[in-house]
Amino acid sequence: MGGHGAPEPMTARPSGPLSGVADVPGDKSISHRSLILGALTVGETRITGLLEGQDVLDTAKAMAAFGAEVERTGEGVWTIHGVGTGGFAEPGDVIDCGNSGTGVRLIMGAMATCPITATFTGDASLRSRPMGRITGPLTEFGAAAYGRQGGRLPLTIVGTESPVPVDYTLPVPSAQVKSAVLLAGLNAPGETVVREAEATRDHTERMLGGFGAEIATGIEGGVRVIRLTGQPELRPQTIAVPRDPSSAAFPVCAALVTEGSDVLVPGIGLNPTRAGLYTTLREMGADLSFENERDEGGEPVADLRARFSATMRGVEVPPERAASMIDEFPILSVVAAFAEGATVMRGVRELRVKESDRIDAMAVGLRANGVTVDETEDTMTVHGLGPKGVPGGGRAEARLDHRIAMSFLCLGMGSVKGVSVDDAGPIATSFPIFVPLMEGLGAVFERGAE
Ligand code: S3P
Repeated sequence: MGGHGAPEPMTARPSGPLSGVADVPGDKSISHRSLILGALTVGETRITGLLEGQDVLDTAKAMAAFGAEVERTGEGVWTIHGVGTGGFAEPGDVIDCGNSGTGVRLIMGAMATCPITATFTGDASLRSRPMGRITGPLTEFGAAAYGRQGGRLPLTIVGTESPVPVDYTLPVPSAQVKSAVLLAGLNAPGETVVREAEATRDHTERMLGGFGAEIATGIEGGVRVIRLTGQPELRPQTIAVPRDPSSAAFPVCAALVTEGSDVLVPGIGLNPTRAGLYTTLREMGADLSFENERDEGGEPVADLRARFSATMRGVEVPPERAASMIDEFPILSVVAAFAEGATVMRGVRELRVKESDRIDAMAVGLRANGVTVDETEDTMTVHGLGPKGVPGGGRAEARLDHRIAMSFLCLGMGSVKGVSVDDAGPIATSFPIFVPLMEGLGAVFERGAE
């Protein structure tokens, strides 16, 4: 699974109405951070609703390798006894983060200001992704990094014994880079500062505050500035992980494009730094409502209700919204195929360095299924064919990318002839129950090659 086993071909047949309640798993970003911050805290941190996808399981294993006691005590229930800020032990073997950019980048940050050495690797997708964006700032703290050309994995970080705090301006809008710098800053004496021109997801800041670190966010000169005081004594927490808005996007969008559908997706985290897809869908005229809006554990949460939407129109997604929906462009491009007119997504260059080049992966797979797509380095335009207008009948490559695999299966559900993906295995990294959950709503999947 997760792209490491034999390929698992799968076809989504055009389906009847999707209906019912979709209980999607816990948030991937918050799950990684819960484990890492728990591992840096003396005492017992208890987590419920943890996403038990392969990415997060790999992070749990890594935290044990760095000396934390990590235990699963029930479904989605985990306890961690951490080692304290700066207390990571040197792992006895290579740390394999599988498919997870978040896992490897945050862990590299967390260990870089400890006096230990660790070597990291991952699957073929992760080994192709840029790590220089992380090792650059980590060397400013005093760590050293030795990787392959272009800073690629496998890569060794020699942590520094005498870290110095850093004032770092993000060169790309990336919550992973921001988080790596903040986690490194945790064990540097004095104040570490991160400046970001575009707001990226802020779970690390919120959670560091929850664990008792001194951290403040403000706007200075039009830029978001985060100031963290190093070497705090973190306090163990009880964390209820909200359900993942990025996973919720799949049943929601499948319902929007599949005739007669009416699906409820309860308890979804709607942190504004993550909710851009839902703003965009409403602008397109999607029949989507937020019910029972509330606050849970410091994060806004709502139940999402999505119904088949026969009158969606293409929109322009502005570049300043990209960061708040960066993982949702593949599934948005599917919805766009069922809208009237063109949907133009601007400022999406970062999609080229995700688990796959997501602009290319979506463009090639959509074209193979009868949809016209234009792309530049930084934009993607999908020419919608209207409700029930997508022919399908083609095959798409998942490219070791969970969100590409799920997006094409959703395309198949609303299409005339269905859509095949060459490998549904990677779905296990973030949404291990995707297939049975969608089948429970009425989706029809066939396993095996066409
Ligand atoms: C994540 C940040 C984003 C996102 C990824 C999760 C995180 O990556 O794409 O799925 O948890 O911090 P970037 O930081 O590369 O934008």
